[in-house]
Amino acid sequence: SSNVMWGGRFQKPPHVAVQALNASIHFDKRLAFVDIAGSIAHARMLFRQGIIAQDDAERIIAGLQSVRTEIERGEMVFREDLEDVHMNIEHRLTELIGEAGGRLHTGRSRNDQVALDMHLYLREQVDAIHEEIRVFERVLIDVAEANLDVIIPGYTHLQRAQPVLFAHHLLAYVWMFERDCERLRDARKRIDALPLGAGALAGTTFPIDRAAVAEELGFDRIYENSMDAVSDRDYILETLSTLSLFMVHLSRLSEELILWNSTEFGFIELDDAFTTGSSIMPQKKNPDVAELARGKAGRVFGHLTGLLTVCKGLPLAYNKDLQEDKEGVFDAIDTVHLLLAVFPAMISTMGIKRERIKRALDGDFSAATDMADYLVRKGLPFRQAHEVVGRIVSVSIREGRALTDWSIDALRGESALFDDDVLAKLTPEAVVNARMSHGGTARERVLEQLATARARIGH
Ligand code: ARG
Repeated sequence: SSNVMWGGRFQKPPHVAVQALNASIHFDKRLAFVDIAGSIAHARMLFRQGIIAQDDAERIIAGLQSVRTEIERGEMVFREDLEDVHMNIEHRLTELIGEAGGRLHTGRSRNDQVALDMHLYLREQVDAIHEEIRVFERVLIDVAEANLDVIIPGYTHLQRAQPVLFAHHLLAYVWMFERDCERLRDARKRIDALPLGAGALAGTTFPIDRAAVAEELGFDRIYENSMDAVSDRDYILETLSTLSLFMVHLSRLSEELILWNSTEFGFIELDDAFTTGSSIMPQKKNPDVAELARGKAGRVFGHLTGLLTVCKGLPLAYNKDLQEDKEGVFDAIDTVHLLLAVFPAMISTMGIKRERIKRALDGDFSAATDMADYLVRKGLPFRQAHEVVGRIVSVSIREGRALTDWSIDALRGESALFDDDVLAKLTPEAVVNARMSHGGTARERVLEQLATARARIGH
C-alpha cells in the first residue's frame, strides 16, 4: 500500500513536498513519553472492557515499554514519512510485536490522542514552571530581607517620587510572580480533564470506560462533549496567556536591572557570570541576560497571538490547522525554563551598591510630600501646603540646595507653621517609616509583608 496508516483509500503516496509540510514529528516527538503513557492506559482499558484479548493487551503494553526504552536510549529512529509521534510509535510497536500492535488504536483517533498528549504534557510543564517560579520568589524574598536597611528612590514617570525600601521594591515583584503562580494553578484546573474517548469527533461505537482511563492518568474530570474535547485549544491559550503575563513581569524586572546596573544609576552590579563583554570595547560589561528576558517576552506574546489567530475561525471539530498549536507553546515553555534557570542565581549574586544608593538620595526632593503632610498636620489644607512646598522646591532648585539645607527661619519665611521638628521628618528613613499604612513601605510594614509572603509560598 502507498501509506502504512491509511493506504487503502489511496493510489499514490503524498508528494515529497507535502510530506515535509504535513509532518509534525520534528516537534511533536517531545510528546513521546506522554503518548506512550496514554496508550498504555488505553490498552489496559480496552482489555478490561473485553474489547481486546488479554494476550494482545500484554503484548501491546510490553511493546510500548520497549519503545519507551528505545527512545530513552536514543535508539528510536523517528521517520518523517510516518508524519507524527503517534504514527511513529504505533509503527515501531507493530514492528516489535506484530499484528497485536494494530489493535491499540481501537476506539481511538489521533484527534483525541493528540489532545490527550497535550493535556498530559502541559499539566507536567505547568507544575514544573510553578515550582521554578516559587524558587525564584524565595530568592527575591531572601535578597529583600538581607537588604532591609537599604532605601532607594521610588519613581513615577521615572522621576524621583518618594523613597522606598529596596526590599519593598523587590517584594512588589514577588506578589506579581505569586499571581502568575495562582494563574498557573487555575489554568491547570482546565488542563486536568481527559479528552480521550472522544474518538475522531463523535465518540466511539466500542464500550469504552473513560472514567477508568481518567482515574489511571490522574485526571480530575472528563470532557463532557466529544466535539469540544478534540477541537478546543483554550487550555493551551490559557497557558500561553499566563506565561505571557509572567514574561511581562520578568521583562519589567529586567528593565529595572538594566537601569540599576547602568553607570548612570549604579545601584547594583550584576555578577560577571551573568554579564557579557564586548568584542570591541574592553570596558563593557553588558546585562545580556536581562536584555534577553526583555526581548524574549516578545516571542512568548507572539505565540499567544499566533494561536489565538489559528483558532478563531475554525469550524468544529478537528482541523489540521490545530497541529499549529504545538511549536508556539513548546517554545514558550522552553523560553520560560531557560530564563528561570538563570534568574534566581543572577539575583542572589548581584552586588547592591549601598554607598551609591545613599548618595542618590542626597539632596533630592523626594521628601516634598512629607513636608506638605507636615503642614497639613499643623492645620493647612493639603492644596495650600502643596503650593507652599512647591515654592520651596522651586527656590531650592534655583539656589542649588536641598530641602534639608533650609534653616528654620528661612522656612518660616515661607510658612509660619514650620517648627524645629520639621527637618527630622525629611530624612529618607523618616519618610519611609512614616508610610505605615497597610501595604506601605515603612520598615515595620515590610517586615509584616515579608512574613505574609513567606507564609503564602511556604518559605
Ligand atoms: N499531528 C496531528 C496534530 O498534531 C495529530 C492529529 C492528526 N489528526 C488528523 N485527523 N490528521 O494535530
